[in-house]
Amino acid sequence: MIADVVVDLQYGDCGKGKVSHHLCRTNDYTHVIRYNGGCNAGHTIYHEGEKFVTHHIPCGVFFGVKSIIGPGCVVNVKQFMSEIEELNSKGIKTEGMIYIASNAHIITDFHLAQDGQDEIIGTTKRGNGPAYRDKYSRKGMRALDMPELTDYIIDMYNELHENSEFEEVKILFEGAQGFGLDIDWGDYPYVTSSHCTVGGAILNGVPPKAIRDIWGVAKVYETYVGSKLFEGVDPIFAKIREVGEEFGATTGRPRQVNWLDFDLLKMAININGVNKLVFNKMDVLDEIKTWNLYNGINMFEFTKSEDMQYWITEMLKDTDVDIVFSGNKDRI
Ligand code: IMP
Ligand code: MG
Repeated sequence: MIADVVVDLQYGDCGKGKVSHHLCRTNDYTHVIRYNGGCNAGHTIYHEGEKFVTHHIPCGVFFGVKSIIGPGCVVNVKQFMSEIEELNSKGIKTEGMIYIASNAHIITDFHLAQDGQDEIIGTTKRGNGPAYRDKYSRKGMRALDMPELTDYIIDMYNELHENSEFEEVKILFEGAQGFGLDIDWGDYPYVTSSHCTVGGAILNGVPPKAIRDIWGVAKVYETYVGSKLFEGVDPIFAKIREVGEEFGATTGRPRQVNWLDFDLLKMAININGVNKLVFNKMDVLDEIKTWNLYNGINMFEFTKSEDMQYWITEMLKDTDVDIVFSGNKDRI
């Protein structure tokens, strides 16, 4: 068994969808597995020139690869069904392609109502926190308890280990949210309720030794959506938001913007064990002609794109990662 993992190193919205799409195009995976979160996520994917925003469904479906919502996820059944309908209406075949792990948990209407009352964290109000709370307090409902999901249920052990139809199972794990939102490593309590690191992927039924590449995804600046104050005072951040189209794919909320925090990035690389690193949205800083980042408490200002890229590459030398700088609309 081989598994590659795509993880976000900041606060979500760094372009995991784009990297996952690229990896699916260039590898022969047998499965794509979403390993954490629910429909709080919004993955923007450009496939054959058309824009898709998926919340639950992994990107494997665009390539005819078996796509599974893993046991680390929570599922809103109505949302799931409507995503399937939408994909079908745009000509993407989903039959026999999309599954939900029997032991994934369900987001109920009660969870949605409760999350709707949140005034502290600034959640996406998609019922995520209450669904995980009930999972861990052992009062949750699981996918296998839902009669309407019968056709979509999959037993992960059977599928990946015991009775696999494939000679060698090759998995792409598609993460949601990001390191800064991780329940354990993020800026608690301004976090989501799931495991957004590589650790979270392994919880979905694969042995650690199966992991091959760990693709970390970051932006050359940072964005965050939620209640805490994140954006700096400089009006340039509003400019970045506009040029970078930094508005939530799920809620449409404006994302707060700030410069890259190099310490956070390095921590996320080390804790996840990243060996391939994609920086997105280089072209946004190039367009506004400002290339800044924080190194500890100091702000570094570069005079050109190449200098910033060189500095980052040098500083990450001892982590042994392969680095790609990519623009918003570029392929990798
Ligand atoms: P929740 O996951 O809806 O409970 O929200 C908790 C925090 O994570 C809030 O700050 C959300 O804005 C943020 N969040 C959740 N999902 C995403 C995402 O996919 N992208 C960016 N931020 C997210
Ligand atoms: Mg997103």
